[in-house]
Amino acid sequence: MAAEGPSIRLIQVAEHPRLLKMKEMFVSKFGSIPEFYVRAPGRVNLIGEHIDYCGYAVLPMAIEQDILIAVEPVKSQTFYLANTNSFFLDFSTSVNDIHINKTKPQWHNYFLCGLKGIQDHFNLKNPTGMNCLLDGIIPPSSGLSSSSALVCCAGLVTLRANGLSLSKTELAEICTKSERYIGTEGGGMDQSISFLGEEGMAKLIEFNPLRATDVQLPSEASFVIANSCVEMNKAATSHFNTRVMECRLAAKFLAKYKGLKWKEVEICNCLEISLEELRTQILSKNTQDVLLFKLYQRAKHVFSEAARVLQFKKICEEAPANSIQLLGDLMNQSHVSCRTLYECSCPELDRLVDLCRQFGAQGSRLTGAGWGGCAVSLVPTDKLPDLLANVQEAYYQSKKGRLAVEKPCLFATKPGEPSARRAFNECLLITR
Ligand code: GLA
Repeated sequence: MAAEGPSIRLIQVAEHPRLLKMKEMFVSKFGSIPEFYVRAPGRVNLIGEHIDYCGYAVLPMAIEQDILIAVEPVKSQTFYLANTNSFFLDFSTSVNDIHINKTKPQWHNYFLCGLKGIQDHFNLKNPTGMNCLLDGIIPPSSGLSSSSALVCCAGLVTLRANGLSLSKTELAEICTKSERYIGTEGGGMDQSISFLGEEGMAKLIEFNPLRATDVQLPSEASFVIANSCVEMNKAATSHFNTRVMECRLAAKFLAKYKGLKWKEVEICNCLEISLEELRTQILSKNTQDVLLFKLYQRAKHVFSEAARVLQFKKICEEAPANSIQLLGDLMNQSHVSCRTLYECSCPELDRLVDLCRQFGAQGSRLTGAGWGGCAVSLVPTDKLPDLLANVQEAYYQSKKGRLAVEKPCLFATKPGEPSARRAFNECLLITR
């Protein structure tokens, strides 16, 4: 893959209602016009859940929902961040004094991750201050990667404002590391697809070294994203990190004892380490008090899910007549594995997945970290209208409008189509 940087486009702001609205808000907030805009998309993961942090390939697709930030570098050392949504309060700090609050992860902390990531990478002694206005349309805590899109956007904002450049893969790797300042030990899927993806094009993302390959999905397939409306902030609980630690420990066990009897082993004895070493050198802060680690079933999920990703890609390449059915089967197996072995689903998601299948999806599964958030379903395009109407009625109407009214809960993406319709569909810099 070419080591190219994110695209830079000259776009007439006046021709894009969303950019124009941001520009107007920026002017009334800061009394000046933005110098540039940055965009980073969210993603839906089609298959390959909770395996990126073990180094295995995943298969996500960038989506239309994104984060846009309007930026003006300023001479002072002040960083000021505002949001078009007044629910999110303004934030300001000195660019030389970045503190990321892990205990109470608020929205601006994700910006600070990207900001600090670039500062640290270049060892910037005198970073520029900036005024920023953010407009985000990825539903938060929904498994569509709103937090990583914000980290990526912030990384690119900081890069540009300081007159620096990096390739997309370098940016993805730096933003992956810097999101960990918030305390979650995620893999690189979200940041990689945000930088390397194009809306509507599925990509196989492989790690070490990071690379992205187009995966052509069957032309008669649509994907439906349905929000369970259960919010899950992976930085606010220890569920996510506990899974990462379990995988880390499982890998250590497999390396140390090939053929180990996996039931009832005592971790410290087997690894010949003290409890203190286990806590401080292997576990993350928010998993140090976890009493039970389920290594066998987590590892079983990881290995089987990693194999499903490769099968999924192979079916897409070989395109047999029953592709949709085969791909759907893999997605269904993935959900069962997430639910039973990885225990990262929840009753609402399970219900939603069942309803999607009942109303015509060939396959349906949770997407993203889980414990809430969205399901993604593979639907033959001719069944799409019926499925949308039925799921709307069965899941959302019955929820009596809770959350459902304000948030986009159910939408379809037809791979390959949207990018042609829209002016921008990737992570990029926009200069007016
Ligand atoms: C989150 C993380 C990703 C990945 C998924 C689960 O989105 O940020 O790195 O681990 O969960 O597949």
